[in-house]
Amino acid sequence: MTRVVSLDLSRWQPPYDRDTQQRAVAALEDGRVLALPQLVFELSPEERVFLSPAWSDARAKNISWEDGKLKGARGRPADLDALARMIERFARGAGELVAGLFPRYAPYVKRARTSFRPQPAVGRALSWRKDDSRLHIDAFPSRPNQGERILRVFCNVNPREDRVWRVGDEFTPMAQTFLPRIDSPLPGSSALLAVLRVTKGLRSEYDHFMLGLHDQAKADLAYQKECPQETVHFAPGSTWLCFSDQVMHAAVSGQHMLEQTIHLPVAALYDPESSPLAILQRLCGRPLLPAH
Ligand SMILES: [Fe+2]
Repeated sequence: MTRVVSLDLSRWQPPYDRDTQQRAVAALEDGRVLALPQLVFELSPEERVFLSPAWSDARAKNISWEDGKLKGARGRPADLDALARMIERFARGAGELVAGLFPRYAPYVKRARTSFRPQPAVGRALSWRKDDSRLHIDAFPSRPNQGERILRVFCNVNPREDRVWRVGDEFTPMAQTFLPRIDSPLPGSSALLAVLRVTKGLRSEYDHFMLGLHDQAKADLAYQKECPQETVHFAPGSTWLCFSDQVMHAAVSGQHMLEQTIHLPVAALYDPESSPLAILQRLCGRPLLPAH
């Protein structure tokens, strides 16, 4: 199994040729990591000062840029402005890259959250559920998404150190392993969670199972050690992307990364049958979203 597909692409702006687009679509929707080792996000000498955890406000794990606002950072206003401009430039580049490589996704490339992660990837004391050094798919307890895809573009802006991941098993065998261990949601629980504002919107059965897969995989230390997996190095300056709701991934090491999240409806995919929603519905033999 090829977990990582590399393409020689060195421009953030389209046009990209058809062959490149087709190879990118096939890799991404098939649940691979699409690595772009030649695609470098350049920092100016002045921007290099941002490669320090000192810019984090210590409460938030990451510095984020969303809706024109910088969150989780501290510093003088002029510095924070320059930091925001750097993150925004990356957001724009990531958006152009995705719209150019995957024209069907282009209408959905609105700015979701962009994050800058100046902290080391691992090493903070965390509960096992939040420990991203364990293999997992992304699923968030407070943000049910009803099957919407989570596409993420990453860039290692560390000038010296690789970003290292483990990439695990394919989605289908992983789901076959863990689905039998997940109880069905309690009747009425999704409405209750929404009313109590634990969740933003209703937690569908799909969301329940995705969270269950995230938790069961992280909790199973034997699986973490023994499942099919590969260690992948992302060199300084390089870019990569994947559907993080589909690719089993774990942080091993690294520091200083930029990340852009893009949400896509399943209908925007070239092959909607490749989505975690379609796979889980096939495995469960029933729809996992409420009928409209
Ligand atoms: Fe993750």
